[in-house]
Amino acid sequence: MNAAVAVRAGTRDDRDFVRDLGRRTAASSVSPVRAARYDDVILALERLFDFAFERDHVLLVGEDGGERLGFLLLLFDIPDEVTLVQQAFIAYTAVEPAARRRGVARVLLEAAEALARARGLEYVSLMVTEDNAPARALYDAAGFVTERRMMTKPL
Ligand SMILES: CC(C)(COP(=O)(O)OP(=O)(O)OC[C@H]1O[C@@H](n2cnc3c(N)ncnc32)[C@H](O)[C@@H]1OP(=O)(O)O)[C@@H](O)C(=O)NCCC(=O)NCCS
Repeated sequence: MNAAVAVRAGTRDDRDFVRDLGRRTAASSVSPVRAARYDDVILALERLFDFAFERDHVLLVGEDGGERLGFLLLLFDIPDEVTLVQQAFIAYTAVEPAARRRGVARVLLEAAEALARARGLEYVSLMVTEDNAPARALYDAAGFVTERRMMTKPL
């Protein structure tokens, strides 16, 4: 882990960075189960950002010496759909390819957890694509467990 990585609250000025890094990483969430059009994957992520930015959210930005290396977008009004228990929900996180495996995502996750606790929330949740090995390893290492599965059958 690189001790120089700092986390701060993002502002509207960070949204272009978020959208740009998001576009460059969106394909990581495409599963081999279904055919995907690249343009639609980008559109879906743009919609996710629009959805997040217009509700109760926190944008966390990880940086080193003022250089933005990654972000995490956290939502607070997405309760668990089965139990309605309140939770923090990680809408998306990404780290610049050149800055990976330096602990940027780990410190972003830690900051997100601290924020959720500060709001009195007892859970933090997210959705991750089965084939996204780096992301799954990140969440496994951070103590996330699989709670339920979304299943698809190609017809
Ligand atoms: C997933 C992602 C955010 C990880 O960011 P990162 O800053 O490289 O992750 P970290 O350096 O904080 O890694 C923390 C731990 O996660 C695990 N991990 C992260 N990337 C890994 C990889 N490629 N392979 C194996 N383990 C990995 C390791 O346990 C790692 O700890 P270690 O380096 O001490 O072994 C980054 O790969 C990314 O931006 N991917 C594209 C976007 C994406 O998939 N986002 C998630 C959507 S749900």
